[in-house]
Amino acid sequence: MKLFTGLQPSGTLHIGNYFGALKPAVELCREYDGMLMVADYHALTTLRDPAELRANIVSATRDYLAAGIDPTKTIVFKQSDVPAHTELSWIFQCLVTVPFLELAHAYKDKVAKGLEANAGLFAYPMLMAADILLYDTDIVPVGPDQRQHVEYAREAAAKFNNAFGETFKLPKEHIMAEVAVPGTDGKKMSKSYGNTIPLFGTRDEIAKAVMSIVTDSIGGKPEHVYEIHKLFRHGESLETLYADNEGKYKALKEALIEDIDAALAPMRERRDAITDEEIKMILIKGGERARERANEKMASVREALGIAI
Ligand code: TRP
Repeated sequence: MKLFTGLQPSGTLHIGNYFGALKPAVELCREYDGMLMVADYHALTTLRDPAELRANIVSATRDYLAAGIDPTKTIVFKQSDVPAHTELSWIFQCLVTVPFLELAHAYKDKVAKGLEANAGLFAYPMLMAADILLYDTDIVPVGPDQRQHVEYAREAAAKFNNAFGETFKLPKEHIMAEVAVPGTDGKKMSKSYGNTIPLFGTRDEIAKAVMSIVTDSIGGKPEHVYEIHKLFRHGESLETLYADNEGKYKALKEALIEDIDAALAPMRERRDAITDEEIKMILIKGGERARERANEKMASVREALGIAI
């Protein structure tokens, strides 16, 4: 079974990203023949800062390696290193209609938020379809917001197969269950709410975030502290801790800092130990492996289309 997923290289991660995206992706990649792609051409639809893009590509790769992706098993690569992605996306764009693409929620949401409606943003789902379909992918782990994009990929595959003969496998989404990670104010943890606990922060940064958790609960149990704590300590041990420290918010927060730090320190150390050079080498090797697979697929696509004469 083949697995493919892509990630937008964007900024600093928090523990909500870890439980909702990195951890499940790492676990699935252990099980499947997996490919993990840094979607740098997708990022170009909204980012026009070379230094920032470069830094984001490296840090996104480093984050996933630190979280446990094994690059000798999973192919880790950069979208722009495999030209077949943009090539195939053009072919799909010629098969779908403008009204069909206009139905994309992600596009509508981004434009509603004030992003420029550039043609790349509009065609985004066809580039994503190319990413997925080039590798005969069976499953695509994504967050709930990307479900429709995988449907678009299936649609592109079906349109091509109808027009030119059976060429692409229809992929299935694997929706990574929304893990409800509450932020320091009890609302969903999100960068835009400014209520995050950093994933790769120092112990001091973690402590600062935990100390800021809002504790307005009545009774002995600080609800927001407890909800976050549940992710790091389980069952009996968690219940005993909260029973023994009824009303002692400071002690409970200190225990939470301790538990978060113990869980994240190994990942943080791994992250610090990976050099930029290693990351570049991993991406170069991954690119070679991905190109080999993609070129093979493109040969049959060119044949089917009639451009191979
Ligand atoms: N659009 C995805 C996101 O924003 C990233 C992505 C690009 C992707 N290509 C992909 C995800 C292919 C899965 C498969 O999260």
